[in-house]
Amino acid sequence: MNKAAFAARLAGRRLVYLAEVDSTNRYAWELAAAGAAAGTVVVAERQTGGRGRRGRQWTSAPGKNLTFSVIVRPALPADRVPLLALAAGAAGLSLLLAELPDLQVKWPNDLYCRGRKLAGILAESRLKGKKLDFAILGVGLNVNSEAVDFPPSLRATATSLCLLTGRRYDLPGLLADYLGHLDDWQAELQQHGFGGRLRSLLAAHSYLRDRQVTIEVDGRPVSGRVCGLDENGRLLLAAGDGRRLAVAAGEATVRAVA
Ligand code: BTN
Repeated sequence: MNKAAFAARLAGRRLVYLAEVDSTNRYAWELAAAGAAAGTVVVAERQTGGRGRRGRQWTSAPGKNLTFSVIVRPALPADRVPLLALAAGAAGLSLLLAELPDLQVKWPNDLYCRGRKLAGILAESRLKGKKLDFAILGVGLNVNSEAVDFPPSLRATATSLCLLTGRRYDLPGLLADYLGHLDDWQAELQQHGFGGRLRSLLAAHSYLRDRQVTIEVDGRPVSGRVCGLDENGRLLLAAGDGRRLAVAAGEATVRAVA
């Protein structure tokens, strides 16, 4: 139905448009494993088994929001691969800040606005030896969903661009613009690493900064006050005993203020 509109806005990019798929990440992974080129974008109107991080599901009203996955193949050593997930979040942030000046990133890459989740990103990767073979950057961005379009369990915690601004958005145009921002942040990562503009942007719009959080690390909870990101994209925590900890991966739970 929207295929022509996506094809028109993404002219010059490799686009796979699907009316329905279980998961664009799963589909893009198969394509990448079969040799699909970097930059290939898989977009779906409807996902029947959308995947979130940490085994969660991603639900999205068909045709109202963006659910897509991008195949990337930058020359990166294995230990730099997690930075791609941060770059994918930065692309959403820089794209939408003009619309939503109070937009924030909840490390590593969830987009939050006014305390509610606007977008989630699932980055999956395959290594070849000690280098990246390919990564799939899967983005779910709530765009034109109204409150009733969210399942009741998400209504208090999720939001959409339309709910935040009162306007409706052109999905193909938004996707094309996101991909432009992603290209820019990937180039920045490649040329200058994480420690410069990328870290500055994420630090300036951090949802977790100065909050007390708990993160499960190797099955054990680690708590502390968030004090920034290091040059490897790890979350820095100041623990109660004065130690500084750098956490590479995990889901931060914000401790409720008593
Ligand atoms: C999260 O917040 O847990 C990440 C959600 C990622 C959802 C997107 S939707 C497009 C792509 N395909 C998937 O199956 N998941 C990602």
